[in-house]
Amino acid sequence: MAETGLMTATQSQAPAAAAAPGAAISAQASGRGSYWITTFGCQMNKADSERMAGILESMGYREASAELEADLVLYNTCTIRDNAEQKVYSYLGRQAQRKRSNPSLTLVVAGCVAQQEGESLLRRVPELDLVMGPQHANRLDALLAQVEQGQQVVATEEHHILEDITTARRDSSVCGWVNVIYGCNERCTYCVVPSVRGKEQSRLPEAIRLEMEGLAAQGFKEITLLGQNIDAYGRDLPGITPEGRRQHTLTDLLQFVHDVQGIERIRFATSHPRYFTERLIDACADLDKVCEHFHIPFQSGDDDVLKAMARGYTVDRYRRIIERIRQRMPDAAISADVIVAFPGETDAQYRRTLALIEEIGFDQVNTAAYSPRPNTPAADWPDQLSEAVKVERLQEINALVERVARARSARYAGRSEQVLVEGTNPKNPDQVMGRTRSNRLTFFPAARNPAQPELGHWQAGDLVAVRIEAVRAFSLSGQAVDR
Ligand code: SAH
Ligand code: SF4
Ligand code: F3S
Repeated sequence: MAETGLMTATQSQAPAAAAAPGAAISAQASGRGSYWITTFGCQMNKADSERMAGILESMGYREASAELEADLVLYNTCTIRDNAEQKVYSYLGRQAQRKRSNPSLTLVVAGCVAQQEGESLLRRVPELDLVMGPQHANRLDALLAQVEQGQQVVATEEHHILEDITTARRDSSVCGWVNVIYGCNERCTYCVVPSVRGKEQSRLPEAIRLEMEGLAAQGFKEITLLGQNIDAYGRDLPGITPEGRRQHTLTDLLQFVHDVQGIERIRFATSHPRYFTERLIDACADLDKVCEHFHIPFQSGDDDVLKAMARGYTVDRYRRIIERIRQRMPDAAISADVIVAFPGETDAQYRRTLALIEEIGFDQVNTAAYSPRPNTPAADWPDQLSEAVKVERLQEINALVERVARARSARYAGRSEQVLVEGTNPKNPDQVMGRTRSNRLTFFPAARNPAQPELGHWQAGDLVAVRIEAVRAFSLSGQAVDR
């Protein structure tokens, strides 16, 4: 096992690249120039991008004002579905062309497409300087140092993720992501994540708490603990309690970090129904800062499809989890992910998914049509469904999700909800926006009191009671109650 983190990247020489890759950084000498990061995919990638931006800034790069002006362009990529992967290639095509007339440009592909494709990305886009998988995000500086020496670098080998000593450059000053477990040990038959994110690696509770304390000291108010399967937190860490239980679980972690001063809200994602425990539900109900919002993907409303997906639970188990959550937290918001048109999914099976959405009454559901992914079992199954069926099911389910979400939103009308202000509404500078504890996006006037302009505006980080006046499927608006 590599626990030192000293493994070197696989290096390959440029296959007749159009520009000498090493020229990229040395050309800028001390000032190092400007960088641009585009992030695709999930919160894990967003968190990695913030850390990589922090590393670039500590190396002397500054953020570019536009992608086409940047001296270093980094795409942090996603390959969860084919369309996500294809998007990356179209972005890369543009930059490769730019590099042909501007050889000092440094081009980096990070994230899940980088991990999946590795060296073959260099064959496809010879202009690339660096291809790096998600486990190497914290090593961006070392990898760029190799690029500076004139190498084209591919870093995709299994790697023990080091505790990061660089300060992330975070997009928000209020809501922060904190990784608690990297990777995924599940083997859902449709999913590319385990092969691109590697084995589960939990961070130590002390490191997580320390990061949260640092964020609190900078004024952050809300923390989202992140993991692809966050309920697996701690199962790779040693330790058994005197009662014979695993010492490190998500429940224990929530209890351990709950009293970090200054942090007002704690969220976590993504939950797996197979591992979601009653003990966790009870802890969420008892711990004030843990918000009443649960993102628990169910993927299908049919037991046979769930079995084919290798999800390891039944629809009934899912129902019982939601029932238990609602017993303890009657107003909790529930969101989920679902896949339609999985190989072999019959119309009747698909209708069970629709029925479950209606029955549970989800606040939000992320929907996707099944997309065959490399190195996943389901991609090779013969009973793939047609594009027409995919489109038809997706459209129908999206309409249902919106109707159900709208019905759930209605309960907020006239209520007062606590909103954490995240910033100005980009579409209306007279409004600020934030989220309720249940994660509904909420807009309200920026002026504390329009009749008394001297009171100024609500600021990012303010916790405000807002009376909800207008409800939409996925957002709310209202007026601040206390000024
Ligand atoms: N770890 C989380 C989600 C990871 S990926 C979980 O276990 O639920 C995010 C979502 O993308 C998944 O929940 C799933 O709904 C969707 N997804 C993953 N692979 C897919 C594929 N091959 N085709 C379509 N959707 C997919
Ligand atoms: Fe993919 Fe399943 Fe792991 Fe989620 S739990 S990341 S769907 S393999
Ligand atoms: Fe995409 Fe990788 Fe996340 S494939 S969804 S960016 S883990």
